[in-house]
Order: sequence, then structure tokens, then C-alpha cells
Amino acid sequence: MWLDDLLAPLGGGGLIDRVDLVTDRIHDVLVSDAPVLGEASRRVAGGGKRLRPIFSLSVADIVGVFDDRVIDGAAAIELVQIGSLVHDDIFDEAATRRGVPTINAVEGASPALLAGDFILAKAGALAAGIDADAAALLAGTIVSLCLGQAAEMDDLHDLDRSLDAYHRSIVGKTSALFAAAAEMGAICAGLDHEQRAGCSRYGREFGTAFQLLDDMLDLVADPERLGKPVGSDLSTGVYTHPVLLALDTADGDGIRGLLERRSNGDVLRARQLVIGSGALDVTLELAIEHARSASAALSEVRLGESPLAPFPSAYLSSALDHFTVGAWSVPR
Ligand code: IPE
Ligand code: MG
Ligand code: MG
Repeated sequence: MWLDDLLAPLGGGGLIDRVDLVTDRIHDVLVSDAPVLGEASRRVAGGGKRLRPIFSLSVADIVGVFDDRVIDGAAAIELVQIGSLVHDDIFDEAATRRGVPTINAVEGASPALLAGDFILAKAGALAAGIDADAAALLAGTIVSLCLGQAAEMDDLHDLDRSLDAYHRSIVGKTSALFAAAAEMGAICAGLDHEQRAGCSRYGREFGTAFQLLDDMLDLVADPERLGKPVGSDLSTGVYTHPVLLALDTADGDGIRGLLERRSNGDVLRARQLVIGSGALDVTLELAIEHARSASAALSEVRLGESPLAPFPSAYLSSALDHFTVGAWSVPR
């Protein structure tokens, strides 16, 4: 698998075995007699790249720590990811996630709401079993996710959305959880406060790069490879970095008119214009800058020798390559 090559420097097979233990822990805590909570939650808990728990495990590995607290911390973080994706798929009315049918598509929106709550609460319980810092980190992160998502909702279909507003939203909805993933590893491994903060900055910067890439992929990825539909940001009115940039180019007025009309054909045409505008190159540059800042954050706290340092930049180029077929092809 494409990710295996990237993960090799982080511990290769040993890391994959540790991720499997985290997955076992997740499946254990999601047991329930109620099918919508147990069966449905476990269906959507499988798969995924497991990037966030990998960050927790890899940070703890810097000081050679791997124990039940680390497993619980990493599992708590991934449960927040899973629970928030279940809720996100309700908002976006998404039919698939991680290559499997969503809970909202199969069981319905109300069961999905309940399952998401169940999963998030299980995350909280695991974190509370670690220590008060872990519990506070986890709760604060869910608050950030809500704020980021609320900011996105406030700006839906707003063609005058500012880049600043976009940035604030993605830091809340995505960067915060990557920051928490790395910081959780630092808490469980007993790193000092300064290094904990450095790990948090590392995760936040990677998360920002990751979301910029995700926003690009929503325009140009192959949906089969991505495991979820593409083109949904534009059609649901989430105007992301490349779109906001393209609105400022010579094609901006054309894109604006198409997005105001909002028919499927108009939105597809707008997507083609965004791709043709050159905005994706600028978004990628910004993502690369954030990936570099992530590595710098580790160096600043004397962790620059960690195999985590080169990971963000390597991830960007590899993921872009893997999820797109050919050059950024214009969808038809
Ligand atoms: C999806 O995250 C949510 C975003 C922040 C874009 P991932 O792309 O990491 O999803 P999984 O965990 O691999 O399914
Ligand atoms: Mg969404
Ligand atoms: Mg997206």
C-alpha cells in the first residue's frame, strides 16, 4: 500500500502492529447490544489511514514509550476522528466514507447522530482513564472541532468568504485534532511542557497542510481511490482555498455566476474553471509551507531528528500522487 512506504521510517511493521492494537482497543470499546451503536459504529470504525493515532504512537516512540496509556490515548484520538466523521457525513449527506456506506445513508440521520455521540463519549472515557491533562485535551479538541465546523456553516455559499475565515475554520475542524494527536503522544510519554507544545504545533501545522491538500483533492481526486465522493465542497457551498483564490482571477466573475446559479452543470463548470485557473498550484505551495513549518516546530524543541520531521512533506507529495490519476485532469 502507498502509505506503507511512507510509514517505514516511522517504524514500519512494528508501527503497523501497534496501530493494530489501537484498532483492537477501538473495537473493544465500541461494543454495544444496540445494533446502531455497536454494529454500525464498528462498520465505520474500520479502514481509514489511521494518521492521527500514528502521530500519537510516533511521538511517544521518540522516547521509546509504548504501553496501555499510549494505546488508549491513540485510540481516544482516532475515536474523535471517527465520531466527528459520522457527524460530518450527516451534514454533508455523504453516502460513503472510508469506502463503506455511511450510517446516515444506511441506518438514517438520527441513528448516525446517536452513534456519533456514542463514539465521542467513548473517546472521552478513554482519555479520562489516562489523566486529567489527556481528558482536558480531548474535550478542548472537540470544542475546537465544533467551532471550526460552525465557522464553516456560517460561511456556506458565501462567495465573499475571506481567506482568514477559511483558515480559522480549518484550524478548528482539522488542525486541532492533529495537534491533539501529537500532544496526546507527548502526554502519555511524559515529555516536558515545552516539547509537548512543540509536538502540538507540529500536529497543527501538518493538519493545516493536510486540509489544504484535502480541499485540493475534493476538486481533482479519483473518488474510488479517495473512498469518498469528490466535488462535494463546491456543491454543498463550502468554498475552500483554491476556490477563493480562483474567485480572484480573470475567471472569477464567471465562477461567481455559475456558483450563484448552483445547478449540477453550473457547479461542474465552476469546478473546471477553478482547476484551470492555476489556483491549485498556489494552494499546494501554501500546503508545502505548512508542512515545512511542522518540521521546524519539532526542531525548535530539539526533536528535529525524529523520523516524524520529514513526514509532512513526504505525505503531501505521496498523497497527491496516489489520490489523483494523471495530472490534475479536468472532470467531465
Ligand atoms: C478526513 O480525514 C477528514 C478531514 C480532516 C479531511 P482523513 O482523510 O484522515 O480520513 P481517514 O481517517 O483516513 O478516514
Ligand atoms: Mg464537511
Ligand atoms: Mg473535504
